[in-house]
Amino acid sequence: MSLTFIGLPLLLWSLNDLPQRTALKDSISVLTIIAFSLMLGQFFLARTSKNILKDYNLTKALKIHKLIGYIFVPILLAHPFLIIFPRYFEAGIEPKEAFITLITTFESPGVILGIIAWCLMFILGVTSLLRNKLPIKYKTWRVIHGILSIMFILIATRHAIMLGRHMDRAMSICMSIMAAGGILLLLKTYILKSSKIEGGTNE
Ligand code: HEM
Ligand code: HEM
Repeated sequence: MSLTFIGLPLLLWSLNDLPQRTALKDSISVLTIIAFSLMLGQFFLARTSKNILKDYNLTKALKIHKLIGYIFVPILLAHPFLIIFPRYFEAGIEPKEAFITLITTFESPGVILGIIAWCLMFILGVTSLLRNKLPIKYKTWRVIHGILSIMFILIATRHAIMLGRHMDRAMSICMSIMAAGGILLLLKTYILKSSKIEGGTNE
């Protein structure tokens, strides 16, 4: 699992032939790519993998799922700020000005998708944190959580491929396959479950 969602993007990152940048910029890029890849992995760390994980392992997987969510959602929420952070150490345009220019570049579809993905991820994070306080049933929350995840991942993947400096062909294909795999697995879980209900079982 970690080999696929951490090892593979790292390998592809190391294989790209882009000119090296400062250690700070490269570290921020690697952190963003790993954080995003772990978001794609979230689809496999839930009851979606019930068939391949024994009960004990499913509990463990869910613990990792929550931990990844609580650590890497905030990191990705900070990603637009992290992009301009190295400017504090460079001459030229002021970081604050660069940030405002970045998030108001509405002519760029990539930036607009980034802003939409950011908002969806924010809602996903807040509704996860407050899931026990929301006036809805757990199962309803879980479906909303699943639908939000699909919308978020579709838009964020498109955004990353459009704007990402490291999103060469190999990386883009890798991210797209992981995203499609996760979404299809979740949809399969939903479809199988509803056909079971039609068939008379309640599970
Ligand atoms: C921020 C902290 C997060 C917490 C506390 C959290 C918690 C949970 C919980 C409790 C479940 C139910 C698992 C089950 O019954 O098997 C779940 C399922 C799921 N989560 Fe998260 N999650 C978080 C973030 C994320 C993120 C960022 C994504 C996607 C990128 C995501 C995608 C999913 C998916 C696809 C499911 C399966 C939904 C379903 O079974 O209907 N989660 N999550
Ligand atoms: C306000 C919202 C956002 C803005 C303005 C923004 C802006 C950008 C920009 C300018 C880049 C290109 C930077 C570079 O490659 O050096 C980029 C890349 C990227 N973004 Fe965003 N983004 C936003 C939200 C998001 C969100 C919510 C996610 C995912 C959860 C995300 C994931 C990525 C990834 C994975 C890359 C590729 C990094 C790389 O190739 O090195 N972005 N973003």
